[in-house]
Amino acid sequence: MTQPRADILWGGRFSEQPSPLAARFSNSLETDFTFFREDITGSIAHATMLGTCGIISENDANAIVKGLKLILLELEENGIPQDIECEDIHSLVETMLVRKIGDVGKKLHTARSRNDQVALDERLYLRVKIDALIDLLRTCSRAFIEKAEASLDMIMPGYTHLQHAQPVMLSHHLLAYVAMFDRDSSRFSDALWRSDLSPLGAAAFAGTSFPIDREQIANELGFRGITINSVDSVSDRDHLIETISACAITMMHLSRFAEESVLWSSSEFSFVRFSDRLTTGSSIMPQKKNPDMAELIRGKTGKVYGALMNLLTTMKALPLAYNRDMQEDKQPLFDALDTTADCVQMTTELIEDATFNKEKMTVQLSSGFLTATELADYLVTKAVAFRDAHSITGKLVAYAEEHNCQLHELPISVLKTYSPQIGDDIYDVLDPVRAVHRKRSAGGTAISEVLKQIEQWKQYLNKK
Ligand code: ARG
Repeated sequence: MTQPRADILWGGRFSEQPSPLAARFSNSLETDFTFFREDITGSIAHATMLGTCGIISENDANAIVKGLKLILLELEENGIPQDIECEDIHSLVETMLVRKIGDVGKKLHTARSRNDQVALDERLYLRVKIDALIDLLRTCSRAFIEKAEASLDMIMPGYTHLQHAQPVMLSHHLLAYVAMFDRDSSRFSDALWRSDLSPLGAAAFAGTSFPIDREQIANELGFRGITINSVDSVSDRDHLIETISACAITMMHLSRFAEESVLWSSSEFSFVRFSDRLTTGSSIMPQKKNPDMAELIRGKTGKVYGALMNLLTTMKALPLAYNRDMQEDKQPLFDALDTTADCVQMTTELIEDATFNKEKMTVQLSSGFLTATELADYLVTKAVAFRDAHSITGKLVAYAEEHNCQLHELPISVLKTYSPQIGDDIYDVLDPVRAVHRKRSAGGTAISEVLKQIEQWKQYLNKK
C-alpha cells in the first residue's frame, strides 16, 4: 500500500498503514467491480436526490452526476484502473470522482454508507441477472417444445427405477422439462419481487438525520418501493439466498436432463445422438465420442449447490446489523448466476442438437412387459377387481418370462387359462402405440393431451 492512510475513505483516525496482508485480505475490488454499473447508477440517483432535497446544492449535484457518467464510460472502456489502489468498487468510484471534479466529489457520500450502498448494488444487479436468466429459461423451453413437436411420432419406454415401466411419447417426456423450467422461472421472479425494494437511506444501519427522500431514489431506480426497516435493510441477504436456491433447483433439473443425455447417448441405449459440435474425443481411445457438455452440466450442479451452502453458512448466526463477513456473499452469488446461465444455454444447444433414434426406441418397446398395466386395466373393464387383475397379470408376466416371450406373443388359449375374461380384443390392448394414445386423462401421454400441452405452452410463452 503506497497510499497514505488518511486518503482512504475512512482513514481519518488511523495513523498506521494496514499490513500488506490485511490490505489484500480485505480487498474486494476484483469481485465487486462486477457491478460497477449498478454502483454508479445508484450513486447518480443518490446525488440527484441530495440535490432536490437541498442537502447539497443543485450545482454540486449536477457536477457529481456529470462526473459519475464520465467515470461510467471510462470503466466500461478500460476496466479496473491500474493507477489507483482502492479496497472496493465504492471507494474506487469516489476516488475517481474526486480526481475528476475536485472536492465537490467528496459530498457524494453524504447521508449514505457503504452498507446501504452495497445492499443497493446487489439488488440492482440481481434485477439484471434474473431478468436475463428468465429469458434464457424461456428460450430453452421453446427449444424443448420445438423438439417435442418434431418428435410426435416417437414412442419410447418410460422408466421408473430405470426399469421399463410404460410406453410414453418422447414428446411427453421432453415436455416434463418445460414444466420444470416454468416453475424455475417463477421461483426467480418471486425472489426478484421480494428483492425489488430500495434499501438506500438505511445508511450504516440506523437511518440518517438528513432530510432524504428514499421514495425518490426508489422511483428513479425503478424499484416497486422502499425497504421498511433500516437495520434489516443492511443486514438482509435472504434475497440472494433465495436467488441462489432458485439457481440450485434449476441446476438440479438441468442435471437430470444432462444425466439422461449421457445415458441415452450410450451404446446401451442409443436413443439420442449429439453432433461433433457438442461432443469431445478421447486422447487415447480414437473411437470415443463423449457427451462432455452434458457431464459438465451435471458436474457444475455441485458448484451451485456449494454456493447455496456457502452463503447460508456465511449468514448463519450473524448478529445484526452489517458485518464484514457479508462481503463474502458476492463470489457465490456471481458464480451461481453465471454458471446457471451458462448451463441453461448449454442445455438449449443440447436439445436443439439432439437427434433421437426412433428405431432404437421402438426395439425397446417390445421388451420389459411395458403393457402389463394395460392388461390389468383391461381385466378391470371386464369386471375383475383391480387387485385380482394385478395378480393375474403378474402371473402371466412370470409365464411369459419363463417362455422367453412378450405378453402379446402368448396365444389366446394360454391367456384364457389365467382369466376366462380375456378375449381376442386383448391384442389391441397390448399394442404399445395404442396403449399410449389411450392415456387421455388430463396431462397424460396420449397424443391428444400432448398436443394440448404444446398449445398451452406456446400461448403462455408468447404472452410473456
Ligand atoms: N465491500 C463491502 C461489502 O461488500 C462494502 C461494505 C463495507 N462496509 C464497511 N462498513 N466496511 O460488504
